[in-house]
Amino acid sequence: MKRQTLHLKAPDNWINDPNGFIYYKGYYHLFYQYFPYEPRWGTMHWGHAVSRDLVTWEHKGLALYPTTRADQNGCFSGSAIEEDGKLYLVYTGVRYEVVNPDDPHTCLNEQFESAQLMISSEDGFSFDNEHGKEIIIPPVTDPSIGDRTHTRDPKIWRGKDAWYLILGSTVEEKYGEVLFYRSEDLHTWTYVNKAWKGPKYGWMWECPDYFETDGGEVLILSAMKLLPDHVKERNQSICFPVTFDEASCALQIPDAYQYLDYGLDLYAPQTTLDKDGLRTMIAWVRMPRVTEEGWIGMFCSPRMVEVANGHIFFRMHPNIRNAYSRAVRDVKDVSDDGYMASFDLEDGEAADIGGFIISRKGNRIVTDRSSVYPAFEGAHLISETPELKGGCHLDVLVDPHLIEVYINDGEYVISNVVYDLRDKIHCDKDKDILLYTTA
Ligand code: FRU
Repeated sequence: MKRQTLHLKAPDNWINDPNGFIYYKGYYHLFYQYFPYEPRWGTMHWGHAVSRDLVTWEHKGLALYPTTRADQNGCFSGSAIEEDGKLYLVYTGVRYEVVNPDDPHTCLNEQFESAQLMISSEDGFSFDNEHGKEIIIPPVTDPSIGDRTHTRDPKIWRGKDAWYLILGSTVEEKYGEVLFYRSEDLHTWTYVNKAWKGPKYGWMWECPDYFETDGGEVLILSAMKLLPDHVKERNQSICFPVTFDEASCALQIPDAYQYLDYGLDLYAPQTTLDKDGLRTMIAWVRMPRVTEEGWIGMFCSPRMVEVANGHIFFRMHPNIRNAYSRAVRDVKDVSDDGYMASFDLEDGEAADIGGFIISRKGNRIVTDRSSVYPAFEGAHLISETPELKGGCHLDVLVDPHLIEVYINDGEYVISNVVYDLRDKIHCDKDKDILLYTTA
């Protein structure tokens, strides 16, 4: 299989979080955290890609880069909204107080300051980095509200009678928290309230996202050091069914959460409304090793977020499902976009997708990537869902570097990075696996 664009990948070097995801003037715009000089994290720029349909993407180069005192060391994550025909991007600008003497692209001992900035565009493609940036929320100075250093990743939405903005922060570097701000005009913002959960939920909450769906409200956040020491990816994205009161910005967060994805490779998701008003999520896929082509980092396939009976579903976006509509008999016949394999599993059965093993144990799905993933200390090789309630139907999207196992139409999803996948697939008892590829 060749490099495909259905899963958007780093154009080169390094990418992380999706940013400013929005449908605007006929295009889906997806910006992302980008370090254009080396395949590793460093001074953050915003890369830019566009799509007409969420299926085929085109890279558009750089959108944002450091030009002011407030963002001189990086344009961190943020979001987009449309107002009066203009596109607005809000993001976190960082300024290092002490630059790492061995590397100008990182700071020493986390000594930096974070402000929230805004920039607009008339067409979604050109941004005036030199003169168009405005600080909308200066660094937090009151420690009883939030942290001067670790407050970032603004997500804006239009409420009933005002604009709202949620920020990730930390209570004394101990507990993750979110801050809420309100504005009438997008330029002047007032701090209103905050919410946190105490221990067991990570020390800092990154990339928060709050939204309503027909079935209930959802909070998504990326909790730092949620998992214990010995695992490679301790930071994990989780979601809760919540209730939020606009007047007071009071957020009620229950104790129990779901993982965004049970493969634990996804991070820093962001949602937006698609063209048809469906809540659509995309997330960064963390990769442990630079590919042979010299890039590292990609995005998962877009997912539709729905809530039913307090459960949050991440369903394959209909455009992706429709794109995989050409039935083929053999993996060798698939297009550059890879394939979707559809089948049911009974208890005790397993399928082998090019060396990636998916099995059903009781009412759980377990995946094992041991033979298609580098061995390293703390590598997460086995993934497992909670108990399934809705049967056991699988739709598996297969890309040379990512396998996404959608279970029961998004009841749970396991997405796992893979390397050197083989071309052979089969299922126990020679049961049929239906294969679909793009036209
Ligand atoms: C999450 C994150 C964000 C931050 C960005 C910097 O992966 O740490 O909190 O804005 O990445 O690249």
